[in-house]
Amino acid sequence: MSRVAVVTGAARGIGAATVAALAAAGWQVVAVDACTDDPALPYPLASRSQLDAVVAAAGEQAVAHVADVRDVDGLAAAVALAEERFGGLDAAVAVAGVIAGGVPQPDVPLAQERAVVDVNLTGTLNLARVAVPALLRRPAPRSGRFLAVASAAATRGLPLLAAYCAAKAGVAAAIRALAVELGPTGVTANAVSPGSTDTDILAESARLYALPDATPFAAQQPIGRLLDPGEVAAVLAFLASPAASGTTGAVVPVDGGLAL
Ligand SMILES: NC(=O)c1ccc[n+]([C@@H]2O[C@H](COP(=O)([O-])OP(=O)(O)OC[C@H]3O[C@@H](n4cnc5c(N)ncnc54)[C@H](O)[C@@H]3O)[C@@H](O)[C@H]2O)c1
Repeated sequence: MSRVAVVTGAARGIGAATVAALAAAGWQVVAVDACTDDPALPYPLASRSQLDAVVAAAGEQAVAHVADVRDVDGLAAAVALAEERFGGLDAAVAVAGVIAGGVPQPDVPLAQERAVVDVNLTGTLNLARVAVPALLRRPAPRSGRFLAVASAAATRGLPLLAAYCAAKAGVAAAIRALAVELGPTGVTANAVSPGSTDTDILAESARLYALPDATPFAAQQPIGRLLDPGEVAAVLAFLASPAASGTTGAVVPVDGGLAL
């Protein structure tokens, strides 16, 4: 029987690549995105048509669900859709994220700082709140996976991005706690920490640092280039698989060596 996943932030970038990687591996996927701009943030988020395109490319194995990760009920509906349509849940992948900053922390508009913490950190905890019980509803022996996307920012002090660094460090800490909490249930919790990956959030990061584009970030990574979203998705897809049963509480760098 094919495995079933819920993926947030699915309409573009790393989330879209994760939907594609899981579908290619035979998973059935509920692809979740807010599909609307955030009035607190000065850059565009993904659209409904982008989410529909991701789902169409994945074929009949995927279904779209519009929800903001700050809305627990919207995420609960995504999990319910997975259970009703596909018969259960085997993985929940918290990819949705936003960035803001670019000025000293006291000068960051409060609404922007709140959005960064609420989407990146609370959104991940919200997904765990509704998805972990569903992962545990699968009968033993289980191979459930709670996965999140942290960032190299979780361990590096990135100037003018204090809230983003704090939120991503929080994601890593939550994953470690969940891993111990889930113990021998067969459900694991892991995260990946991407380096600079060629997506819209990186373009916004470049703008926040007054760079013309994201190209200069490549030089910070020993591999000498930006990552492709598919390279991050490939590691998430492995961590989602039953083969990753020996790994829990890990925050796996997929950063081209940025953290070295
Ligand atoms: N690209 C990088 O260099 C990089 C590096 C480290 C970590 N990350 C993390 O990777 C994850 C994916 O980002 P990306 O690089 O694909 O950027 P992206 O901006 O292309 O994708 C983010 C997606 O999340 C969605 N989203 C935003 N707010 C949402 C909300 N409240 N509810 C539901 N969906 C929402 C957006 O619509 C978009 O589809 C994020 O958590 C980001 O912080 C990215």
